[in-house]
Amino acid sequence: MLGDKKVLFSGMQATGNLTLGNYLGALKNWVTLSDEYECFYSVVDMHSITIRQDPAVLRKRARTLLTLYIAAGLDPEKNCIYYQSHVSGHAELAWILNCFTYMGELNRMTQFKDKSVNAGLFTYPVLMAADILLYQADVVPVGIDQMQHLELTRDIAQRFNGIYGDVFTVPEAYIGKVGAKIMSLQDPAKKMSKSDENPNGSIYLMDDPDTIMRKFKRAVTDSEGQILYRDEQPGIKNLINIYCACTGKAPDEVVREFDGRGYAEFKPAVGEAVVSVLKPLQDRVEELSKDKAYIDSVIKNNAEKAQYFANKTLRKVQKKVGFPERIR
Ligand code: TRP
Repeated sequence: MLGDKKVLFSGMQATGNLTLGNYLGALKNWVTLSDEYECFYSVVDMHSITIRQDPAVLRKRARTLLTLYIAAGLDPEKNCIYYQSHVSGHAELAWILNCFTYMGELNRMTQFKDKSVNAGLFTYPVLMAADILLYQADVVPVGIDQMQHLELTRDIAQRFNGIYGDVFTVPEAYIGKVGAKIMSLQDPAKKMSKSDENPNGSIYLMDDPDTIMRKFKRAVTDSEGQILYRDEQPGIKNLINIYCACTGKAPDEVVREFDGRGYAEFKPAVGEAVVSVLKPLQDRVEELSKDKAYIDSVIKNNAEKAQYFANKTLRKVQKKVGFPERIR
């Protein structure tokens, strides 16, 4: 708790191009949560270097993502929007938590595939645990793919608390109510992903209107020829979900609206609905990006704010594990 509000922590990586799925499935919900909770939304750039990055590209993408948080409607006065790498406590707490995490636990993480893995990728879930526990977060909105990491975070917190008393808040997952799960436009059995090799499967947040319309016109559907909301027509179902998420309509309303009309009419309608959501967002990112001084001030002020809360937890933890007191 911070004041009378529960604390919420979440983060996104600035790697790859964010997709419509990231927006409708996550970022858009963050905005609705920001009234109810005291929110920390991080650009988790330290996680990004577990895979080799071009420094200039990473820096640029991180800034765009931070700007996008604001453009999407997160007020940086009310929400702590900051770069993970600007708060040294993440790395410091991650080190301590590494000493409370078993190799076996990390070996079980599905995101950690054999490949040739650096130690950072291996302990990635511990850094994520540090992110969350540093702010004593009560809730963490995450997708299904991150649930395992959240479970590990809870295990580490409980283990630590079991030894040293109530140091960490044990966080709960926040699974969105509507949970708009957006699938690939080229393969509706697969989640829309920023790492998809086929760019036609994903709508990127920065795609221009023509590109968006083209991708929807090419979206894979079926030969049923009817716009119905059912599992037998996964492509159409996905398009209906996207249309609903963009217009606020319910699936049955959409089915009625397009009753007797063909895919050739429906697909561009979905494209237009998406453009009407993304275009203003893109314009706002562009406008905000021009105001360098403003974005810089957000970065500076929120890093200080995050650092303040992070240090409170970190000092407590350092004392518990037996680090010598600081002489001031
Ligand atoms: N691992 C998350 C992802 O790839 C990003 C992340 C890092 C995160 N730290 C977090 C998400 C803390 C929630 C809370 O999507």
